[in-house]
Amino acid sequence: MNLILMGLPGAGKGTQAENIVEKHGIPHISTGDMFRAAIKNETELGKQAKSYMDAGELVPDEVTVGIVRERLGQPDCSEGFLLDGFPRTVAQAEALEGILSDLNTSLDYVLNVEVEKDKLEKRLTGRRVSPTSGRTYHIEFNPPQQEGICDVDGSELIQRDDDKPETVRKRLDVNIEQQQPLIDFYNEKGYLRNIDGDQDIDKVFQDIEELLKGLH
Ligand code: AP5
Ligand code: ZN
Repeated sequence: MNLILMGLPGAGKGTQAENIVEKHGIPHISTGDMFRAAIKNETELGKQAKSYMDAGELVPDEVTVGIVRERLGQPDCSEGFLLDGFPRTVAQAEALEGILSDLNTSLDYVLNVEVEKDKLEKRLTGRRVSPTSGRTYHIEFNPPQQEGICDVDGSELIQRDDDKPETVRKRLDVNIEQQQPLIDFYNEKGYLRNIDGDQDIDKVFQDIEELLKGLH
């Protein structure tokens, strides 16, 4: 099962990815998570990515494509993978075609999680994450059992650096600009499946599962 999960910032990619990978046992490959881990570990990649992420800009394609190529080549991806937040530009999508062809594999679906732009700002500014388990919550839409504490590992929840209101607006603008050409690219190839992301988290997951029936 080779899947891409795309959607604007806050559409629910990470939230749905948690459910999909748990159910299907495939690796979750989030370029955003990989960059955040690199920044935390102060690696060369982290240094390259930080200024772009803090500004709400995209990390350059060469850097992003490089880490995805390396990750998809690892043995645990041979039975399937879920890409979250990659590709984000047509250049990245074209590079991915080359990577998959080198690996003798291809995509099944590109799941496009759709939510109106106006709703996304609130989702992003109200998001809280666990720095250790990586689990995502929302102060209103998906609160933890105990305020400010992760259900999974009891860690204190934090706000992502790029979820401050100024950065959120910039991220939305940047991603909206890239979105349509990417949708057209995958639609023409027949991979695109739209998912209504403006429903309860569980209902969105049900719709995804309905689509994935028949894939293995
Ligand atoms: P990344 O980490 O991928 O951020 P993003 O695309 O901006 O997406 P988010 O993680 O913010 O949103 P999400 O869709 O995962 O939503 P979530 O499930 O958390 O990338 C960060 C940065 O890295 C980029 O800005 C860029 O600089 C760089 N980068 C990454 N990939 C790149 C690439 N390919 N090329 C270049 N640069 C790249 O949900 C959001 C909130 O909503 C949560 O609080 C959640 O609880 C809540 N929520 C989720 N679903 C629902 C629902 N159905 N109803 C109500 N609330 C919901
Ligand atoms: Zn995410």
